Amino acid sequence: ASDTRLYQSNDKSPLQIFVRAKKKINDIYGEIEEYVHETTTFINALHAEAEIVDKAERELFESYVYKVAAIREVLQRDHMKVAFFGRTSNGKSSVINAMLREKILPSGIGHTTNCFCQVEGNDGGEAYLMTEGSAEKLNVVNIKQLANALCQEKLCESSLVRIFWPRERCSLLRDDVVFVDSPGVDVSANLDDWIDNHCLNADVFVLVLNAESTMTRAEKQFFHTVSQKLSKPNIFILNNRWDASANEPECQESVKSQHTERCIDFLTKELKVSNEKEAAERVFFVSARETLQARIEEAKGNPPHMGAIAEGFQIRYFEFQDFERKFEECISQSAVKTKFQQHSSRGKSVSGDMRSMLDNIYERITIFRNLKQDQKNLLTDRIQGTETQMMQVTRDMKQKIHTMVEEVEEKVSKALNE
Ligand code: GTP
Ligand code: MG
Repeated sequence: ASDTRLYQSNDKSPLQIFVRAKKKINDIYGEIEEYVHETTTFINALHAEAEIVDKAERELFESYVYKVAAIREVLQRDHMKVAFFGRTSNGKSSVINAMLREKILPSGIGHTTNCFCQVEGNDGGEAYLMTEGSAEKLNVVNIKQLANALCQEKLCESSLVRIFWPRERCSLLRDDVVFVDSPGVDVSANLDDWIDNHCLNADVFVLVLNAESTMTRAEKQFFHTVSQKLSKPNIFILNNRWDASANEPECQESVKSQHTERCIDFLTKELKVSNEKEAAERVFFVSARETLQARIEEAKGNPPHMGAIAEGFQIRYFEFQDFERKFEECISQSAVKTKFQQHSSRGKSVSGDMRSMLDNIYERITIFRNLKQDQKNLLTDRIQGTETQMMQVTRDMKQKIHTMVEEVEEKVSKALNE
């Protein structure tokens, strides 16, 4: 039953924008690769038989083959990346676990996460982790063992541990979302390194705050630096541990509006990353621990409220789901733009170069042919036949490349608009 639920939510997910665009652009590049190979064979023949194409040109064309292959490889690895930041113990790891619907990352009181942890989908059925600079795959049996592995490694706080988790266990991983968990921003002096090493290619940032206190200077400073290095980063703010507000119902609303105002001011006036309306859609009041508990109950076939910690569970649970929906829309759109726009403009430039090269060769064949026509009596039928054939093939190739470039442009702009 839980599999069906995952499948359904996956189908309607805004993440499909990215998934479909990736498939489309992959197919287009597959076609481009075929054309490039075909054309290479043709160019090599022109070089060997008639010497119309020289060595340098042949080598240049060969370089297109490598370029296209390189783009395809990057494309295969493209994903959507979300990075979580905030003070120690605010619940960063808990939020990720809630989104993954399973307790994967170690969480607990005190300073728990001591280096960067990246969770990504793995096609095989098994879970394992890899530390930076090592190719060894360490098996992950359970959460306790994972926590121990993370501690024992004596890892530098800005180093990265990659956790590969079976895709079929979470729809977000299946749709190519990669999660990055970080140590608290208050425990590090190397925030610049963090940003350079782990943040520059993130599509979305989530600032996890503790709703029981207020945003700290360290948290603000971190995002100031991020927004200096990246133009208009996408930032969501989660006021976590909102279940605690149930203990003080009399001041719940006033606390909420105070937090909301501060968060919106931070995004609009301080960081200047969004306008009032957008910012209002980026601030949420949730309980990660409760959401995770609810989801674990749901997976067992129980009603979600069995995971409730305090009064008002339903509202917080809806708010978490609302956050996920807006997050999915934002991350897939951002990733399509930043990643695929680049590939499509590179693809256009490579096919443009190929086109002008083929135009050039075509011209040369024409001149060559006219020259030969002047010495008609020296020509045998066979040579003439070859030339006509050559003209035909070049013309066909040119036409193919023209069509291909147009197709690429059309498909990519369609994918981007969608
Ligand atoms: P570090 O890794 O140390 O930086 O902390 P973190 O931000 O990853 O916090 P973590 O997820 O480890 O949570 C810290 C503690 O707070 C854990 O004991 C969680 O169970 C608890 N916690 C997290 N979210 C909530 C919440 O929404 N409500 C309540 N009541 N407790 C929470
Ligand atoms: Mg943590």
